[in-house]
Amino acid sequence: MVELRDRWQSRGSFLLGAIGSAVGLGNLWRFPYVAYKNGGGAFLVPYFVALLTAGIPLLILEYSLGAKMQGSAPKALGKVRSKWEFVGWWALVVGMIISMYYVSIMGMSWDYLFSSFKSVMPWGTSAETAEKFFNEKVLNLSSGPFDIKDIAWGVFIGAIITWVWIFLVIFKGVKNVGRVVLITVPLPWLMLVVLTIRGLTLEGASTGINYYLAPQWEKLFDPSAWLAAYGQIFFSLSLGFGIMIAYASYMSKTSDTTNNAFITAFANSGTEYLAGFSVFSILGYFAVSINADVASVVKGGPGLAFVVYPAALAKLGDIAGWMAPFFSICFFITLITLGIDSAFSIVEAFAAGLEDKFGWGKTKTSAILCVLGLLGSLWFSTTAGLYWLDITDHWISDCFGLAIIGLLECILIGWLWKASKFRQEINSFSDIRIGRWWDICIKFITPAVLIWLLITNIWELIEKPYGGYCSLALFLGGWMVALMAPVIGIILTIIKPKNPRWKMEEG
Ligand code: PHE
Repeated sequence: MVELRDRWQSRGSFLLGAIGSAVGLGNLWRFPYVAYKNGGGAFLVPYFVALLTAGIPLLILEYSLGAKMQGSAPKALGKVRSKWEFVGWWALVVGMIISMYYVSIMGMSWDYLFSSFKSVMPWGTSAETAEKFFNEKVLNLSSGPFDIKDIAWGVFIGAIITWVWIFLVIFKGVKNVGRVVLITVPLPWLMLVVLTIRGLTLEGASTGINYYLAPQWEKLFDPSAWLAAYGQIFFSLSLGFGIMIAYASYMSKTSDTTNNAFITAFANSGTEYLAGFSVFSILGYFAVSINADVASVVKGGPGLAFVVYPAALAKLGDIAGWMAPFFSICFFITLITLGIDSAFSIVEAFAAGLEDKFGWGKTKTSAILCVLGLLGSLWFSTTAGLYWLDITDHWISDCFGLAIIGLLECILIGWLWKASKFRQEINSFSDIRIGRWWDICIKFITPAVLIWLLITNIWELIEKPYGGYCSLALFLGGWMVALMAPVIGIILTIIKPKNPRWKMEEG
């Protein structure tokens, strides 16, 4: 039979691609903060339990499904039970929405990178000046989500650069992705090591690290710390977006999946752990140098990446003038290169879905998706973009994306297909044989945690629909965004091309 499906050039490039997708902004601005908030060193206990009982089992499931079915999420799930195709599309649409704001965050990083080529950092050396700079100069932030005055041009230009970059990476197929990740995956590691060495040799570093890792054992009895650990693992491993399914589908049907899952998971966790050192050492230095408590400067999310961390880097200028621009440039390159491979993995997964179903070429699918993506990012690059980013992130990623999709995947494979049968197939090809523990994780533990995650998050939405800027319109808007994904999923399922490509491949 003629080989129709695109292929990675080697197992190594597949692994780098998957690691690149997992290792993203979340490793830097989410993990260290979540760990600090949920028990410091003690957080590693729920974190590793979550990794072993849910993260790795689900990753094995996604890899195996992709490789076995030789298809993107809709095709792979549809081959198990044809009615389930829409779950695959749902996952891809959710991913696409995430990519739109993910890219606008990268746009902010570009804007900061361009501003770093100066002898004095324009955001100043205090959290207050940096916050003012972020809100007024970079975002031109309006008064609320419905007050859209203008476009934050710096951010939008950065988003355009990113979308063009994504297109150039994926339109030639997965072999090209394999070449790009040779640079975009190691580069942020290198930068993180540079930042960590700089951080750890600063006065105050140990104070910062102490905040990061001092164990608060009592947190082990707090269910929310466990929930945070599972949430972090799912998001960080890019599970439930059809990405790992699509990437694995470009490996052969008989390729290893279990060992690959362990490698990906540990590389991802190692990166998060390292990122924590670069964040907390430099924040420790910053806090000590301004005579503040570390707790008062620690933040997560954009507040970390675009406010306190840049302020701390600017403060390095007190030691030597060149350090502020040098380390700022390193940091924003880290953000951009961390983000890019996560961003293109999402688009690649969707492009694979369209290609599988409609038989369109990669150039066409990538072009369509990148243009749509850019239009979406335009929304998140307006002066009200940050509010929408917050709202969408909250509704889509916490509640109606990953948790539901992950749950459905577990039901489909664990119960409808039967976990034990699936496991035997996995074992017949893999380096590491997995035992019955995997069935238990997929049938009981992972779904139970996902249901718990879902109920808690939905409850929160109902209780306080959204933080400071709650209104009925927003509440309805949130539901609309959340429901859009399954609805588009159903539409894409119903459309039937005359010659579906996945039938051709079989025939
Ligand atoms: N895993 C990525 C991170 O840690 C986030 C991501 C989610 C990437 C979903 C792609 C898809 O930042």
